[in-house]
Amino acid sequence: MNLSSCVKEKVAKAYQQCGYNEAQTLVKLSDRPDMSDYQSNGALPLAKQLKQNPRAVAEQIATVLKDDSFFSKVSVDGPGFINLTISDKALGDMADAVLNTPKGGYERTTPPQKVVIDYGGPNVAKALHVGHLRPAVIGEAIKRIHAFAGDDIIGDIHLGDWGLPMGLLITEIQERHPDLPYFDATFTGEYPKEAPFTVHDLETMYPIASQKSKSDEAYLARAKENTHLLQNGHRGYRALWQHFVDLSVAEMKKLYEPLDIHFDLWRGESHVHDRLQKMIVRLQKEGLIVPDDGAQVIRLGKSKTGNDLPPLIMVKSDGAVMYGATDLATIEERVEEFNPDSILYVVDARQALHFEQVFAGAEKIGLTKKVKLLHLGFGTINGKDNKPFKTRDGGVMTLKMLMELATDAALKKMNSGEMGRDLTDEEKSKISKIVGVSALKFADLMNERMKNYIFDEDKLTSTEGKTGPYILYALVRMKSVLEKMNESAAITEQDIIRIQEPAERQLMLRLYGMPDSLQTAYDNNAPHVICDYLFKLAQDFNLFYHDCPIKDADEQTRRSRLALTKYTLDMGLKMTNLLGLQVPDKM
Ligand code: ARG
Repeated sequence: MNLSSCVKEKVAKAYQQCGYNEAQTLVKLSDRPDMSDYQSNGALPLAKQLKQNPRAVAEQIATVLKDDSFFSKVSVDGPGFINLTISDKALGDMADAVLNTPKGGYERTTPPQKVVIDYGGPNVAKALHVGHLRPAVIGEAIKRIHAFAGDDIIGDIHLGDWGLPMGLLITEIQERHPDLPYFDATFTGEYPKEAPFTVHDLETMYPIASQKSKSDEAYLARAKENTHLLQNGHRGYRALWQHFVDLSVAEMKKLYEPLDIHFDLWRGESHVHDRLQKMIVRLQKEGLIVPDDGAQVIRLGKSKTGNDLPPLIMVKSDGAVMYGATDLATIEERVEEFNPDSILYVVDARQALHFEQVFAGAEKIGLTKKVKLLHLGFGTINGKDNKPFKTRDGGVMTLKMLMELATDAALKKMNSGEMGRDLTDEEKSKISKIVGVSALKFADLMNERMKNYIFDEDKLTSTEGKTGPYILYALVRMKSVLEKMNESAAITEQDIIRIQEPAERQLMLRLYGMPDSLQTAYDNNAPHVICDYLFKLAQDFNLFYHDCPIKDADEQTRRSRLALTKYTLDMGLKMTNLLGLQVPDKM
């Protein structure tokens, strides 16, 4: 049960009782929260159909509703809108049934789905940078929102681990260390378990190799040949490549762990290599892959905007398989293995054309009969100059640097006394990491997904305004109120809510409003809706905390206010968890 469904049910019954179609109540949250909580606008279309006076129809329904003590005020306004205000008693009475439940009143109205979420998408042997924050953070939040709503979800990182970059690295290592056994064609023993290089060696070697390949044709040709050999199973190169993957994955986990980002599958493009080879042969036979200027392509129809889509290149003229080809084979694999209802791709909006081509290709080869494919794009993180965010001296901002920047900013606030006044140095160092990372994630998630946003270092960790720390502060305050009163956050039967002040009413309505926000966030894959909700929840709580004394209130009021604090903390933790934000105990 939740408040909206309860109101809808009562109104439907009233329509029915008056002999009207109860499917047409048009109940929604009020446009004028200062006047009412809900409104029902169904009398207008009904009256039109029945050729009656809409106000008279509305009055008739309102009369029935007025008899229900659930509503403290029922009025007919304008041409025939019914405005409804819930009684304070009813709001208090339903708290246990609605809020003291695992999903805080959220009810699924459509059948649960099986969903694969492809997010993160980093590349092996390349340092994660600022551009890898959004796909990971937004993807994780979308995954959690779906799971909360009842979907069965599988999150896959889809590593870039199979193209020319791998061949370039092999070539560069060969040039530097030609004596390594990986390059010895006569070597039949076991290759070393330990890599003869570190992940940092790889991260510095890769840009050098990439640069060389642009000016040195012979080098590029060797890199291509090495890519080919790797893909076709060259024993030494496969062993070398396994080092790349193992070192990179270990490094990625070190970064994703503090960001609280977890993947179910750590597969990459390489995973579908064999499947892709078979797929290409089959589609060539079926005439779906055709030669085009030396390449092998799938011809596509029109784009959404009516233009001709460029063909999807499967195999380039030099024999290399393409990014889109691995994506197609991956769809085939996911369909066969998981039979999902949908696959969501949380990938930079600049790859929109790529996904349009892949999805059109998938449709053409018959992969989309049972699965819906959706690209959930996002904008870039920009600096104050509105260009992609860089370090002060114009270099690449790595993800590690970005996280340090946020943590340092939080620590600075603690050392200046803006927060963390009662913390020891040891606590400050630990808690600044939680606060910094949560601040970074919130500042990202609160923006509408598709928009670019400007990274504001100063605002990030502010405890005022719409920021992560503002929300964490409110939650920490709830924890400390309960702790001071010797209360656990677990809700019991004695927790009866009695609303007396407007701030209590506002906070209760906010708690009851979660299912509506969650549904919007789910339907639009929009974590920013949850950010909005949390921000308002924190504001409403702060107002309540200011207006409604707890300690010195009479016993019943005190108990009610403590219960309200518990419900708010409980809801706040549910929602921060959806966004993947950690909440410290103190700050
Ligand atoms: N590795 C890719 C990149 O760096 C992103 C992968 C996104 N997922 C996918 N299935 N294409 O651009």
